[in-house]
Amino acid sequence: MAKVTVIGAGNVGATCANAILHMRYASEVVLLDIKEGVSEGKAMDMMQTAKLYHFDSVIKGVTNHYKETDNSDVVIITSGIPRKPGMTREELIGVNAGIVKNVVNNALEHSPNAIFIIISNPMDTMTYLTLKATGLPKNRVIGMGGMLDSSRFNYYLSQELGASQSDVEGIVIGGHGDTTMIPLISKASCKCIPVTSLLSEEQANDVVAKTMVGGATLTKLLGTSAWYAPGAAAGTMVQSIIMNEKKIFPCCTYLDGEYGQEDLCIGVPAILGKDGCEKIIELELTEDEKEKFAKSATAVKNTNNILYESQILTR
Ligand code: APR
Repeated sequence: MAKVTVIGAGNVGATCANAILHMRYASEVVLLDIKEGVSEGKAMDMMQTAKLYHFDSVIKGVTNHYKETDNSDVVIITSGIPRKPGMTREELIGVNAGIVKNVVNNALEHSPNAIFIIISNPMDTMTYLTLKATGLPKNRVIGMGGMLDSSRFNYYLSQELGASQSDVEGIVIGGHGDTTMIPLISKASCKCIPVTSLLSEEQANDVVAKTMVGGATLTKLLGTSAWYAPGAAAGTMVQSIIMNEKKIFPCCTYLDGEYGQEDLCIGVPAILGKDGCEKIIELELTEDEKEKFAKSATAVKNTNNILYESQILTR
């Protein structure tokens, strides 16, 4: 059975670890944080739910002790600061780039074959940073963002349609930012019925707009960024990798010509299996969607450039 390490035992990391325990596909979970005691305490608290929730996986919390993460199959990066009300994800780059670069290199030393899932924001840029700083092949570095944005899109679609979330199918591509994500309303459906035939243009536009600020809406309510859906989204992506399910996820991956873009990590649908990101799916986009995707890619690349300007990465 598999071993999964979660770095960062804050709201997102702890929720992610808890989701993995409940999903039961990993025998061992390690929760690592820089703050003394936090990961140990949260892991012990979760272990005390094992009999209640009937899981047999073991979770161990450690303070910066990477030896315990040895030979993980998947490493999830959630360390870093979350945004506060009024902040964009991009504004976190200054602090989070240093943290992410440091933790991914430490983790890779102990798990040379691991697949990395990046959650820390700005997620598209942190995924790119991980890929470049480690020199890992592109299939082994995947950002979680599209899956979360798509979950929010499905939530707002189901609300507007008055339909069950399990009947609704929508995906979000592009960057994981309030202005860079592209909820593909033209392709969304409710049990095979295109939602554009069920919603007025005004309703459809409203769903798209609410999805794009879905994270900011929660940040305003919570005073910090959300954790339940991010934790669950990462948990399902890791399941597809560990169980080699080969499910399609909207996720952040390196493009090398696909969608007319190169040298960036951005959200597109991809198959996740035992080798990580196994295949990028190229959707047929409308002209408007193509234009939005190109704009989104430019915005993500501009944020990536900060990594070079601040010499966190060198060309
Ligand atoms: N090594 C390990 N853990 C670290 C390090 C480090 N170098 N630096 C910070 N951390 C830990 C903090 O101690 C904290 O426990 O990362 C954790 C972050 O937790 P929260 O502050 O609760 O943030 P959270 O809401 O979990 O968000 C984490 O995910 O969704 C993104 O935007 C969000 O970038 C943010 C990240």
